[in-house]
Amino acid sequence: MFLRNYWYVAAANTEVGRKPFGRMILGEPVVFFRTEDGTPVAFEDRCAHRHLPLSMGKLIGDHLQCHYHGLRFDKTGTCVRIPGQDQIPPTAKVKTYPVAERYHWIWIWMGDPALADPAKITDFHWLDDPNWGAKTSYLHVKSNWQLVVDNLLDLTHLAFVHETTIGNSALAEHAVVKVTRAPNNVVVTRWIIDQLAPPTFVKVGKFSGNVDRWQIIDYVPPAFLRLDVGATPTGTGAPEGRRAGGINMRNLNAITPETETTSHYFWGQAHDFDVKNKELTQRIFEQIQTAFYEDVEVFSAQQRNLDLNPNAPQIDINADTGVIQARRIVDRLRDEELAAGHMAAAE
Ligand code: FES
Ligand SMILES: [Fe+2]
Repeated sequence: MFLRNYWYVAAANTEVGRKPFGRMILGEPVVFFRTEDGTPVAFEDRCAHRHLPLSMGKLIGDHLQCHYHGLRFDKTGTCVRIPGQDQIPPTAKVKTYPVAERYHWIWIWMGDPALADPAKITDFHWLDDPNWGAKTSYLHVKSNWQLVVDNLLDLTHLAFVHETTIGNSALAEHAVVKVTRAPNNVVVTRWIIDQLAPPTFVKVGKFSGNVDRWQIIDYVPPAFLRLDVGATPTGTGAPEGRRAGGINMRNLNAITPETETTSHYFWGQAHDFDVKNKELTQRIFEQIQTAFYEDVEVFSAQQRNLDLNPNAPQIDINADTGVIQARRIVDRLRDEELAAGHMAAAE
């Protein structure tokens, strides 16, 4: 089951244009397009006539025309034309979803439209803030969305999965970890003091000696993880807040369930040094992207085993504290949505 009354990232803004674009979100097929003035629109991707995906159709002005028998729908989802027929039945409508465009992403609200307030969109301003250099990307993941959330809340895996990129053994062995929880928020703070910088940091930060490194993971449900990461030469005061002379980055993650066992993974990497240097932005992005491909392998392998036996026992270790807290929040929010009667009857 999914949490519905939240804004989710549905697409990169460049994916949605004048050609209808279909994507499954929370188990529902959705078609996206832009009206002639550029406004993004989302419909259920199913014609009201005989179920053909409307993403196979085309836009005639601001009307989406079905590929099969030519019914046309306006941006409110109302059928406005049936070829060869004057009367249009009042039920000739397709469901529409609230959408918003922010931080280079198209956001969608899959729950009760009356509750869709764009002010509730999770802040990812680093992605379009002129004080930061940033690049975003998308990965299709063959696993349940919560496995991706778990991964980002427990960064001890960097030492093993990402040994050659963003990790090294100091991360698992020498970190001082603190987990703080608010009703709808988990923050995992990790400090790795006076240790070797990982390969990526050496490349972009030009560190010659040991560093003090931080990873501050800010989790907001259902599946937003904003990581404040960086390092300064050791002993220069980063734990007390003095970050000059080092590197500051944000690793920004928005995971959207596609189905129970597949996910859309939108992510971006931002840096606050040399922000106009596009070549540097690209280089940092590629380092992280290599690491993320390593994660995607892990998620699909976990999911394959879970598919074989979803109830197989598992153990918890100390590093799971943030993961467990986040899952508790999701369970509680799911119960609250169920109690409020907002869950789709079909689920
Ligand atoms: S299925 Fe769309 S017009 Fe017939
Ligand atoms: Fe990872």
